[in-house]
Amino acid sequence: MDWKRIYQERLTTAHEAVRAVKSGDRLVVGHAAGAPTELLKAMVAQKDRLHAVEVVHMLCLGDGGYLAEGMEGHFRFNGIFVGANTRKAVEENRGDYTPCYFHEFPSLFKKQLPVDVALIQVTRPDADGFCSFGVSCDYTKPAAELAKIVIAEANDRMPFIGGDNLIHVSKLHHIVETSCPILELPLPKIGETEKKLGEYCATLVEDGSTLQLGIGAIPDAVLMFLKDKKDLGIHSEMFSDGLIDLVELGVVNGSRKSIHKGELVATFLMGSQRLYDFVNHNPQVQMHPVSYVNHPTVVMQNYKMVSINSCIEVDLMGQVGSESIGLKQFSGVGGQVDFVRGASMAVGGKSIIAVPSTAAGGKVSRIVPFLAQGAAVSTSRNDVDYVVTEYGIAHLKGQTLRQRALSLIAIAHPSFRDSLTEEFDRRFAPASCAVGV
Ligand code: COA
Repeated sequence: MDWKRIYQERLTTAHEAVRAVKSGDRLVVGHAAGAPTELLKAMVAQKDRLHAVEVVHMLCLGDGGYLAEGMEGHFRFNGIFVGANTRKAVEENRGDYTPCYFHEFPSLFKKQLPVDVALIQVTRPDADGFCSFGVSCDYTKPAAELAKIVIAEANDRMPFIGGDNLIHVSKLHHIVETSCPILELPLPKIGETEKKLGEYCATLVEDGSTLQLGIGAIPDAVLMFLKDKKDLGIHSEMFSDGLIDLVELGVVNGSRKSIHKGELVATFLMGSQRLYDFVNHNPQVQMHPVSYVNHPTVVMQNYKMVSINSCIEVDLMGQVGSESIGLKQFSGVGGQVDFVRGASMAVGGKSIIAVPSTAAGGKVSRIVPFLAQGAAVSTSRNDVDYVVTEYGIAHLKGQTLRQRALSLIAIAHPSFRDSLTEEFDRRFAPASCAVGV
């Protein structure tokens, strides 16, 4: 059948479309800026007929109406990441967190967490009847391919981005046309600490490197110090506005990438309307599912791959806690370990954990003798490579426990170095063995 006829036949209202959701279903919601806000609103409005619907979602940028107090009997949040809008629900046991590497989410949907309904947002169809997933390919495309029912918002403001990022209208069971602004991420505030961190990280980036950058002020600060580099490439879980200037300056051109030469490769994007305009119908930008972009065996194929991520705390052995403050689930492992491992296996690769030396207005050191009780280890001491604070760079790979502790104390905030040294002395003194220290 002609795709235009299929499209017309499946067009409906948000209210009608979400009637396909049933009590007890497992629902996967499009990620971050790709969340279908109109469908979510319509579903929450039908809460009284819905019970025990499991909502699997990663970063929730919108208001997350299904997370409000009192919704838990109707909708149960199963977070594959925890963020500002979902943290409270998890803390209050109105929601849960499922630990999993980001590149493995599609495999969860194939095996342990089969999907009843995918609630997604896409572009309007192109001339051949294909819609783009736009800014969120990640787990959203695999979930849509695996779901029994796909309900899609076809938003004419969603940027059309190519790559392995398209779905044919015949695969969408219910389609709702919308014209809504894409959710934006406020631009991060870059202070002196972030600038110093950015400057140190930039010294580790050689010409011709391919970069993965996380979200927030530190990655954007790193980008500020890369203006004099040459021929950088991007193979990243995500990127944001900070990258556009470097592309326009020609610093990021992907000319020396070993795979996807010349392309900016990502699995999701979040930023301002400037970013969304930049990526719309931009052939340089290619989106692929997270099972491909983040897979360590794909990441490792990039020559001089450099990953830059942040954390909550690092202990003196180099164990990196990036997702919880003690038992409190603060975020998730996301793609950190995917890229740490991929970068570490890449020829000329490096992985960097960039972290301010203190938190809570300087009261808490983030270089600690022990991770807080209950904290999850995100990047293990066997995987860690470089740790950077505003006081310098510690290269831990290949270092003994003793050497690691000394390297980390040297980049801790000066006001915590004495107490960390006391712990070092308890652990390693008397200096019976001076070899290699
Ligand atoms: N003890 C107590 N509080 C701490 C703390 C510690 N050791 N470390 C951080 N905090 C507090 C901070 O003070 C801050 O509180 P505030 O918001 O009240 O000021 C809050 O926790 C957030 O810390 P901050 O460092 O500003 O967070 P961030 O936005 O830079 O994010 C991570 C840091 C680690 C949470 C984030 O990078 C992350 O989720 N990483 C894991 C996932 C990942 O790496 N993905 C990679 C690809 S995108």
